Amino acid sequence: MGSVSLKIGDGTARFRRATLWSSAVNLLMLFSVIATNLFALYAFTYSSPKPHLLHDSHKNISLISEQVSLILREIDSSQKRLAQMEKEILGFESIDLSRPNIAHELKIFLQNHPLPLGKDSRSGITEMVASVGHSCEKSVDLLSQYMSYKVNGPCPDDWSLAQKLILRGCEPLPRRRCFAKAIPKVGLYSFPISLWKNVSDKVLSWSGLGCKNLECLNGKKLNKDCVGCFDLANGYENQRYVKARRKNDFLIDDVLALGSGGIRIGFDLGGGSGTFAAIMAERNVTVVTVTLNMDAPFSDFIATRGLFPLYLSLDHRFPFYDNVFDLVRASSGLDVGGRPEKLEFLMFDIDRILRASGLFWLDNYYCVSDEKKRVLTRLIERFGYKKLKWVVGEKVNESGKSEVYLSAVLQKPVRV
Ligand SMILES: *[C@@H]1O[C@H](CO)[C@@H](O)[C@H](O)[C@H]1NC(C)=O
Ligand SMILES: *[C@@H]1O[C@H](CO)[C@@H](O)[C@H](O)[C@H]1NC(C)=O
Ligand SMILES: *[C@@H]1O[C@H](CO)[C@@H](O)[C@H](O)[C@H]1NC(C)=O
Ligand SMILES: *[C@@H]1O[C@H](CO)[C@@H](O)[C@H](O)[C@H]1NC(C)=O
Repeated sequence: MGSVSLKIGDGTARFRRATLWSSAVNLLMLFSVIATNLFALYAFTYSSPKPHLLHDSHKNISLISEQVSLILREIDSSQKRLAQMEKEILGFESIDLSRPNIAHELKIFLQNHPLPLGKDSRSGITEMVASVGHSCEKSVDLLSQYMSYKVNGPCPDDWSLAQKLILRGCEPLPRRRCFAKAIPKVGLYSFPISLWKNVSDKVLSWSGLGCKNLECLNGKKLNKDCVGCFDLANGYENQRYVKARRKNDFLIDDVLALGSGGIRIGFDLGGGSGTFAAIMAERNVTVVTVTLNMDAPFSDFIATRGLFPLYLSLDHRFPFYDNVFDLVRASSGLDVGGRPEKLEFLMFDIDRILRASGLFWLDNYYCVSDEKKRVLTRLIERFGYKKLKWVVGEKVNESGKSEVYLSAVLQKPVRV
């Protein structure tokens, strides 16, 4: 009655004609609206007893409306200026291809290409749209340098340039049409022997790195999660997660027991040389290790062990569907520095890919300050995870100062 029905089924939209009755109701409504407004106008105009005051207030009203429109114009222009500033700061403007020194290959990559066979009937897509991180705009000179290569030729040996771009948020990268340098991978062991055999330096890529062999790497503290982590034979690496050194070190078998047999696939952030994935592999659990090549050939090394390295910065949304992992492990690599929202973005994404009742293992997370620990604790508590293990411990570092670490095993709740 008086309503408009939109029928999409056969592709046409039909409007039912209003009945006489509803027209009458509409007229009545219209009349009452007009009457109310007229009354308001009357009351407003004639409430003032003295005619000269009325004249004054008319003048004042026009003065006020002039002021208001001035203010509105000011607000409008400030908003525009603010938006422009924001664009400049965030680099949100799409890449300006008319600039000088833009590599030709970059232009070709970023142009939309119509599909050769026309519209794809399943996806409805008619053209291929290039995907490149919007932050690439901020490093457009580096990007152009990266994109200056010979199509069909060998790629320049410059992955450290690529990594620099990734660390500036320029991800995904647009280079596609050249052949990456191929390193002969001779002498690889079969799985699972490969998990603990160190490989020859020759099968790893050392370009752009300070160290040129494993021995050099093992003499260095690369980061909190990798102290001598390329030495699989000696040292602590082959005892990690199996023997505890401190109360913050949980054993893999204890954590797996908390998952009551349901842990089959896992995701490791800050996995060093892949040892966590290796020990999990021995327990028939498949683990993907996130890694960049920060000062060492992490990706190559993990792959030679027969494990899965995922070359991705933590600023990137994880390329996995929701609720897929049984376990996510994170360590100090989780400390993305800067503002607390960064950690929140990361935490939400971890939560997204972890299945309900899955385990989040926070392994020796270095709390730079008490404040940092509080922020992290508050954040975790907001997600409503069940604390299966929670240990705060101290460790004396090389300079004799005590550092605080948090280790926890948390279970994702079933949210409805
Ligand atoms: C209008 O403004 C004048 C001064 O500009 C003031 O004296 C007068 O009271 C105002 N009248 C009203 C109705 O606000
Ligand atoms: C493995 O690495 C260790 C330490 O880096 C070294 O002592 C050993 O000789 C290496 N073994 C092989 C087979 O390369
Ligand atoms: C892993 O799987 C293999 C083959 O199914 C089986 O023989 C082995 O006992 C399993 N290992 C563990 C630790 O469950
Ligand atoms: C040791 O810890 C202190 C305080 O946490 C820190 O300022 C210092 O940089 C650390 N030293 C090393 C070598 O890590």
